[in-house]
Amino acid sequence: MTTYYSEELIQSVIEANDIVDIASGYMTLKRVGNSFKGKCPFHNEKTASFTVSREKQLYHCFGCGAGGNVITFTMEMEKLPFVDALKFLAARVNMVLPEKQNQEEDHQAYEKKKRLYELHREAANYYYKILKTNPPAREYLLQRGISQETIREFGLGYASEDWSRLTDFLITKGFSIVEMLDSGLVLASENKRYYDRFRSRIMFPIVNPRGQIVGFGGRLMATEQNGPKYLNSPETAIFSKGYELYNLNHCKNFLEAGQILIVEGYMDVIALHEKGIKNTVAALGTAFTPFHGKILERYANEVIIAFDGDSAGKSATEKAMNILKKTSLNVKILNLPTNEDPDSLVQKYGQQGFKEYVAKALTIVEYELELLKRNIDLSQTDGRIRFGNEAIKVLRQLETSVEIDYYSKMVASDTGINQEVIRREVMRSKTRKAENLSPLMELTRNEILPQKIPRAYQKAQELAIRYCLKTPEIIDDFPMDYLTDPFYQELLRTLSEKRKTGIRIEVNQIMSHFEDSEEVKKIVEFMMNEDEVSRSDYQDALEIMNRFYNEAQLDRLSEQIKRESSNGNDDAVARLTNQFIEIKKMMKENGRH
Ligand code: UTP
Ligand code: MN
Repeated sequence: MTTYYSEELIQSVIEANDIVDIASGYMTLKRVGNSFKGKCPFHNEKTASFTVSREKQLYHCFGCGAGGNVITFTMEMEKLPFVDALKFLAARVNMVLPEKQNQEEDHQAYEKKKRLYELHREAANYYYKILKTNPPAREYLLQRGISQETIREFGLGYASEDWSRLTDFLITKGFSIVEMLDSGLVLASENKRYYDRFRSRIMFPIVNPRGQIVGFGGRLMATEQNGPKYLNSPETAIFSKGYELYNLNHCKNFLEAGQILIVEGYMDVIALHEKGIKNTVAALGTAFTPFHGKILERYANEVIIAFDGDSAGKSATEKAMNILKKTSLNVKILNLPTNEDPDSLVQKYGQQGFKEYVAKALTIVEYELELLKRNIDLSQTDGRIRFGNEAIKVLRQLETSVEIDYYSKMVASDTGINQEVIRREVMRSKTRKAENLSPLMELTRNEILPQKIPRAYQKAQELAIRYCLKTPEIIDDFPMDYLTDPFYQELLRTLSEKRKTGIRIEVNQIMSHFEDSEEVKKIVEFMMNEDEVSRSDYQDALEIMNRFYNEAQLDRLSEQIKRESSNGNDDAVARLTNQFIEIKKMMKENGRH
């Protein structure tokens, strides 16, 4: 597909638009496990077979086979060509795509946003003033340990219990109803009365790195009041939750050794700041997104995930960790006690105590080993063996032999398994490759394979591709000519070329290379397949492919031997027979592992 927009630009538009949010605008989605389900908008159905994955940012209908990413979804729903769908999504998250023809429109959009920033600035000042004259709200903050100085620095405010105090105020400031509604701070009732979204709440302005106020979070002072504990601004022309990080505006001035702490809540950020720990950000009431990861990459070298110690915090940790693994950031994890969050911890132990905690943050591998340990009983022999096997899988993600040596020692001392055995297993599974055989004469591998591909081969091939999509680092080692379908070859070649240009590839982005909707569907099918593919599944798949390939070689060789011997070509027969024996021997050896 040809557009003059760069891959990166397209990718950042994709990342800034959460597929779940977009799809929710057109249909009702229900959370089911890790994904969201609803009735397919592309065909008529009674049961919900339309699945959206937030993690993968893809959708797929198991009923009609529709599938794609946020761009194809918008193309379908809005009936737009690719470039227009891209623009539509970019506009939605306040991204400006470079374009000459549309200067007039751009100018209007720019003016509109400028007004929204002004409106938010006025609203923040107003909330701040109300706080000053509202003793209970001030008392609440003081009692949570927040000083007047911190209130000022964060511009904290209060939205009073009145229905339309902000609305009335904004009118006196000359803002139109449309502008107020666009800001999300004002809502319209059914009989066209206008009222404030935030009432009886402590207000936290959300400030972008350019210092502009783009939205608010509001906390109920007493949780027995009605409504959710925290309410955030909705997505607007200037605010997108998956894109902003609370306190990034301050945090970037207080980086300690390129380190940023990621916490869950507004109050964690503020309590830490109060105690002199200022290098923190929080994702805003939504999950941590790949886009957040990208933004942090710009500012930090190392991030420390410091989420709440409860089970919600633990599962959010795992998700953020998997997103951050894919960035260039060094990632560590603060494993908090079950009933603590960073706020409560720093209240208890103070700045010094908290810093000591941070100094003990775990690496990803340490954290994953901790999780394993928590679930496996190491006092039993079979537990120790299972732990050993699982730990080896964890250690495979390590890059250097120094690290592998270090952690092998740790696992060895936990299990009583010989360190050298662990180290060797990790190394072996890292380096074992399936392509240690010479191609038969001038033929490529897929030419040697039979025309009709056996089912087992097909399955192994698809599994291997799924693993490659999941683990792009291995693509360059993948034996491309094992692939029998030109589309599969094209897919992996595209991924591999992207890698060579140094652009970090995202499968989502690759889809724009494939015009054919059947191909896009197939890619989505690969991506949405929830069955886990482990490294050892992948290696097994390669071995299956390898075995079929060897057998195909033998078939072909025996044909050639027959032909050459009927031609009386003794030299050729001898040479081919030697090859035949070599392959047989190799297969026998492989079979023994
Ligand atoms: P917490 O409930 O852990 O908040 O939610 P907290 O910051 O520790 O708040 P306190 O200490 O009870 O005052 C963490 C974050 O999740 C989002 C908010 O961004 C909050 O800061 N959240 C939570 C919501 O968006 N809505 C909610 O109803 C609750
Ligand atoms: Mn808290």
